[in-house]
Amino acid sequence: MARLSRVLKLAPLICIILIAPWMASAALVRRKFTIGTQSVTRVCNTQTIVTVNGQFPGPTISVREGDNLIVEVDNNGPYNVTIHWHGVKQLGSCWADGPAYITQCPITPGNKFTYNFTITGQEGTLWWHAHISYLRATVHGALLILPRAGKVYPFPKPAAEFPIILGEWWNANVEDVIADALKRGVPPNDSDAYTINSQPGDFFPCSANDTARILVEREKTYLLRIVNAGMLHASFFKIAQHKMTLVAVDAVYTKPYTTDLLLIQPGNTMDVLIKANQQSELYYIGTRVYNSQPLGTGYLNTSATAILQYKGSSISSAPLLPNFPAFNDKPTAFKFTKNLRSLRPSVPKNVDEEMFITEGFGLVSCPNNSCAGINGGKAVGSFNNISFVEPEIAILQAYYNGISRVFTRDFPNNPPQTFNYTGSVPRSLWEPELGTKVKVLKFNSTVQIVFQNTGIITIQNHPIHLHGHDFYLVGQGFGNYNSRTDPANFNLVNPQMLNTVGVPTGGWAAIRFVANNPGVWLMHCHFESHSALGFDMVFLTEDGPGYSDKLPPPPLDLPKC
Ligand code: C2O
Repeated sequence: MARLSRVLKLAPLICIILIAPWMASAALVRRKFTIGTQSVTRVCNTQTIVTVNGQFPGPTISVREGDNLIVEVDNNGPYNVTIHWHGVKQLGSCWADGPAYITQCPITPGNKFTYNFTITGQEGTLWWHAHISYLRATVHGALLILPRAGKVYPFPKPAAEFPIILGEWWNANVEDVIADALKRGVPPNDSDAYTINSQPGDFFPCSANDTARILVEREKTYLLRIVNAGMLHASFFKIAQHKMTLVAVDAVYTKPYTTDLLLIQPGNTMDVLIKANQQSELYYIGTRVYNSQPLGTGYLNTSATAILQYKGSSISSAPLLPNFPAFNDKPTAFKFTKNLRSLRPSVPKNVDEEMFITEGFGLVSCPNNSCAGINGGKAVGSFNNISFVEPEIAILQAYYNGISRVFTRDFPNNPPQTFNYTGSVPRSLWEPELGTKVKVLKFNSTVQIVFQNTGIITIQNHPIHLHGHDFYLVGQGFGNYNSRTDPANFNLVNPQMLNTVGVPTGGWAAIRFVANNPGVWLMHCHFESHSALGFDMVFLTEDGPGYSDKLPPPPLDLPKC
């Protein structure tokens, strides 16, 4: 007993000794985000858009792994706002995750909220964006996570680093675009331009003078930190005459992968090294839509471009353009993702919770067939045939305070029926149930999910993003998943870890993660309009036994609904 009490008295000292070297290299990084509006012109059209600190794209935040980031968000704009730190694991800080009505109520105009979290065990590029309605179209920016002081990249230090943000532009107020679509029950209008660092580039009207440029010197190597902030499209990405070496995806290092083409899903981030080993000229950096829908409609058949400009090149010469795969080149898209490998994998071998989740569209009937969708109904999205209904107060707040009737805990592990998922699905299976259901996970359980795309209305690639966790992509394929034969081909050795996976068009993808973070975590299609149509679900991870395995109390300034 005496010995125990002596140990207990020494405990704080032992803690300080153990923690001190770790603390020494971590810093506190403070930023202020002022949300406001700005008049911006693109493709000959002027719009008043919502911005952070008057910048579009918003400010880049640079931190080191282990740093504590504190961002005070002051909403001087006209709309409710929240900010999500896309891909940040938020260990023990679920309250700072940001999705509206999931972890917090929105910051109303005239009010503030301070996001406070530590970035642990992640290096590379992530990003931040508004997580309410359609505001992320203009409210987004890069989050660069460097190794902590004294540590280095697992590749030679580049001569310079450049954030490259892929986006979309509407000749309209984006809040009107989504409100109109939801009212009518149809998908929202497509964007009017694709952008790189908010500029459409030379192939769009009134844009050539402002094309984004990246200046390089011959024989030097550069790091491009690419974020796909696009709203409704996966993108092929190329640089004329230059190969890229992919070194990280979603702030997880990859086994270096040399390629001339990237496929980046909305939500994904990719770090690539490029060597300036060509003649001193100008080269286009270009992106083009990967649109996998069989009908191939609803996209612009044009590249957004930036220019890779060698020092000493003549600015007036015409840049070379890269060749892109066809917009619907499924095999190329599939192959790219299949080749990704983690640099330092550690895949959980045993699964505690197995889920098979169908995902895709559905059709809900409207009174007197009054909506503008098929048969007067409205299009929705769903997981396991449940289309998510956004609650009026945040689920995390309801859970923490024991408020009932906000959500139910009965999200199922399987769809209600077995059918030929990717075939032509009978109409009787098109109508989902509406609900705010969560899937409860035991602390530290290993979860395997097989996402199965359905052919309801149309087959399409869907980028599924899980908040608060990275997961291993252990398998993917076309057609219907076969639970007897497909697991034998899972890669449990060195698959890539991601926070967003493009589930192949008319196919499936299998992921594994450990539910090691207590709180409420949204999972959704990162096509923003799909998420707005109910293509969302929520995990609730229970507290674990240890002191640090419990959800801490909410910050005092957490907004109220
Ligand atoms: Cu990038 Cu739920 O978000």
